[in-house]
Amino acid sequence: MKKSLIVILLLTGCATYGTQTAQPEQVEESRNVAKSLGMQLSAKLKAEVSANGPASAVGVCKEIAPQIASGLSRQTGWEVGRVGTRVRNARTGTPDAWEAKALANFSERMKQGEKPDTMELAEVVTEPSGKYLRYAKAVAVQPQCLTCHGPAESIPAGVKARLQTEYPMDQATGYQAGELRGAIVVKRPL
Ligand code: HEC
Repeated sequence: MKKSLIVILLLTGCATYGTQTAQPEQVEESRNVAKSLGMQLSAKLKAEVSANGPASAVGVCKEIAPQIASGLSRQTGWEVGRVGTRVRNARTGTPDAWEAKALANFSERMKQGEKPDTMELAEVVTEPSGKYLRYAKAVAVQPQCLTCHGPAESIPAGVKARLQTEYPMDQATGYQAGELRGAIVVKRPL
């Protein structure tokens, strides 16, 4: 009786104050989903750039990136996606409050000298709609990203034209290699 009372107190305490920390295996599972999105996307992108050139790969990114993300969402039942520090696709790529906080955390850690390759953030967050494990993996700009996200002079004319048509409000150019581009994000109900 006494024991169960303590358990109840602990549980309500957690729910009220949101102090529960993420379980390591839940973080690991989220990390694997994020990794899978990153790897599938970079394989498709590489294949398309070498087969048909970067201008055509813009179309692949537009079609394939959301497909891979929603495929993983269906498989897992979690929300999986990508957000940017500056955004190309405003509908899917705009960070929400927690994601913006994760991006700010990554920028700060990069300033302190931490490498983005393994940088991640996982937190249990209580939102009006319920409790979630929120996970973000930092995504840095690599040299091969500059064709579509770099300064004007690094973007071929064909890519520029394609971006202008597909993303007239595009903000995701002008990046340098090594900069923080955004994050792969996973949101999982607990
Ligand atoms: C062939 C052009 C191309 C290349 C190369 C490319 N991207 Fe993108 N990127 C895009 C397009 C197009 C979108 C918008 C996709 C969409 O509509 O969902 C995008 C969106 C993103 C987003 C989602 C946030 C947003 O702004 O909408 C991230 C993050 C991102 N790219 C990172 C990268 C990284 C990192 C690399 C290099 C490893 C890279 N991209 C290489 C074309 C490219």
